[in-house]
Amino acid sequence: MRMQGKSVIVTGGASGIGLASVERCLEEGASVVIADLKGSEGASRAAELDGKYAGTCLFKACDVTDTVQVDRLFVETVDELGGVDSVFNNAGIGGVTPSDEVSDEEFLRIIDINLSGVFRVARAALRVMYRQGSGSIVNCASILGVFGQSQTAAYTAAKGGVVNMTRSLAIEAAPKGVRVNAIGPGYIDTPLLEALDDEMLQGLISLHPIGRLGRSEEVANAFLFLASEEASFVTGTTLMVDGGFTAGKS
Ligand SMILES: NC(=O)c1ccc[n+]([C@@H]2O[C@H](COP(=O)([O-])OP(=O)(O)OC[C@H]3O[C@@H](n4cnc5c(N)ncnc54)[C@H](O)[C@@H]3O)[C@@H](O)[C@H]2O)c1
Repeated sequence: MRMQGKSVIVTGGASGIGLASVERCLEEGASVVIADLKGSEGASRAAELDGKYAGTCLFKACDVTDTVQVDRLFVETVDELGGVDSVFNNAGIGGVTPSDEVSDEEFLRIIDINLSGVFRVARAALRVMYRQGSGSIVNCASILGVFGQSQTAAYTAAKGGVVNMTRSLAIEAAPKGVRVNAIGPGYIDTPLLEALDDEMLQGLISLHPIGRLGRSEEVANAFLFLASEEASFVTGTTLMVDGGFTAGKS
């Protein structure tokens, strides 16, 4: 059991990559808080998982754009689980709009969730983890944190920001016993891709040398590695989980 007795928070844990990560952590002996906007979905996922494994699974409603809610999530988790060993800073939204048509509102919303939200959660995590003298934060970036893509200026800016913010946080937190890393998923078969038609999906598949989309569990396994003591000398990095997407063209 790689996460025996550990306490983990997964933002965006009600769906997709987050939900798979919640289940992998429970399988490895952790207690996990699903933190998500989706109240009824999150609560029913937690109710299904709680009692299935040795650890507890709780749901806490949390919008990562709201500092009060984020800070409360950490206070309550410390009260109920005794601390926070690992955080998957995974909540995020997509956004594809021609740049000449993007409104301020849409641009700022994507930044607020995908970049500022990651910072709010990391800041709250650092406060708890500094007191503990230990912890691991894993931020969800993307292949689009290191590659550009048409019509995704806000998303790519946010994810690029996550990659470099991860480095800065890692340097700052290392002397206090806290590691900070990121994951860069390629295209993963989750509800985030629901809006795409078959032709678009085939186009995306062809960009991955492995020849398929990724599975949420494959990203969850990378989170598990970075969250656990197996990655005790790994900080400030972005681990690409992308079927070779960022390796180059064939
Ligand atoms: N699916 C992909 O191809 C892909 C690729 C690269 C990166 N990612 C990243 O992976 C992460 C998870 O995406 P997914 O594919 O599992 O998507 P998903 O839509 O299945 O899950 C995202 C979850 O985040 C939650 N969420 C959204 N806004 C929130 C907010 N303000 N506060 C709290 N929770 C919020 C949603 O309710 C949802 O449960 C995101 O950061 C996404 O950018 C996904």
